[in-house]
Amino acid sequence: MSEIDDASGGFAERYGSRAEGVWSAPGRVNLIGEHTDYNDGFVLPFAIDRRTAVALGDRDDRVIRVASTIESDAAEVALDALTPDAVDGWAAYPLGVAWAPGEFGAGLSGVGGVDLAIASTVPIGAGLSSSAAIVCAVALALDEHWRLGFDRPTLAKVGRLAENRAAGAPTGIMDQMAALSGEAEHAVFLDCRRLEADLVPLGFEAAGLSLLVIDTRVAHEHAANGYAERRASCEAGARTLGVESLREVRVDDLPRAQALLDDESFRRVRHVVTENRRVLDTVRALREHGPSAIGPFLDASHASLRDDFEVSVPELDLAVATAQANGAIGARMTGGGFGGAAIALMIDPLVPVVAREVAAAFAEQGYREPTVFTVRPSEGARRDL
Ligand code: GLA
Repeated sequence: MSEIDDASGGFAERYGSRAEGVWSAPGRVNLIGEHTDYNDGFVLPFAIDRRTAVALGDRDDRVIRVASTIESDAAEVALDALTPDAVDGWAAYPLGVAWAPGEFGAGLSGVGGVDLAIASTVPIGAGLSSSAAIVCAVALALDEHWRLGFDRPTLAKVGRLAENRAAGAPTGIMDQMAALSGEAEHAVFLDCRRLEADLVPLGFEAAGLSLLVIDTRVAHEHAANGYAERRASCEAGARTLGVESLREVRVDDLPRAQALLDDESFRRVRHVVTENRRVLDTVRALREHGPSAIGPFLDASHASLRDDFEVSVPELDLAVATAQANGAIGARMTGGGFGGAAIALMIDPLVPVVAREVAAAFAEQGYREPTVFTVRPSEGARRDL
């Protein structure tokens, strides 16, 4: 059973009728470009083969109902009473998406209510953007059903606003753009200032490579605070350096930055500046030499996130070090950090070896058993039925 069947089956069970359509959006892995999106920089995520599906049916009143297989509690709100704070918990994501188009100029006074049923195979809390998968699937469904006519970058902004309000985290635009623009076997090279997405062939399969996700299952309570603090520190750094965003600082400018900033602020800035460079280097290496050539950039990204940006945790460091020690081409934490998952790129036959060694290393440290699985670069949000 796929998430698409689960969403339409769940719809029929919950509401006693057939859904009019099913839309879905994927989770994402960020290959490289971490904590650069909210600094107007570069990112290189790809959509994965785990998706969230939403089945939608029309109603003849102005009520919106949501149910999901993720949580048992359903929610119901009148469209006219919809505010970003109307509900708590997971339902704030889909309902936030129903509210947000109004903030982008859509007139919602004439639209009818809907019933939504959601199902997902994106692991929650693993740093694979399960929340972006929900908001993007719902945004695409409502855009079509309500004939909003938004383009994908605007839908990404609708999704981000819903997430910012629902989760209270001032996240960037990477996750939503990855979920909406991904293609099979490609990464999304995104310039977050221009919001333009360029597809870059990854060629993992042709090169006999697999991308392993190691979910540490560490969910840090302070992730939202830590994220907001890092973002504030980047903004303060940009102000001190007299630029609008850290995107404008080049590697050559770092000595000047070091002279102007305290040690911690300087290291935060250095991470962002060098990470932007690593994204560009990775894109060039992929295009000129293929995926086997990108390992050093992934490794350097992890070191920078660990030492300069300080968003890694011991479990992520151990996952990365163990993958590297067992022959991975490159490895790094992925996503915001403070827990979540690491990724490791390796030749196919190494997958069981690295999986076993990581599990053994975690057991030896007394860490919780990690969840390990491979992912394939996949298609972005779409209508399925
Ligand atoms: C989270 C956010 C993204 C991005 C990453 C860090 O995933 O949702 O916008 O900032 O962290 O790269």
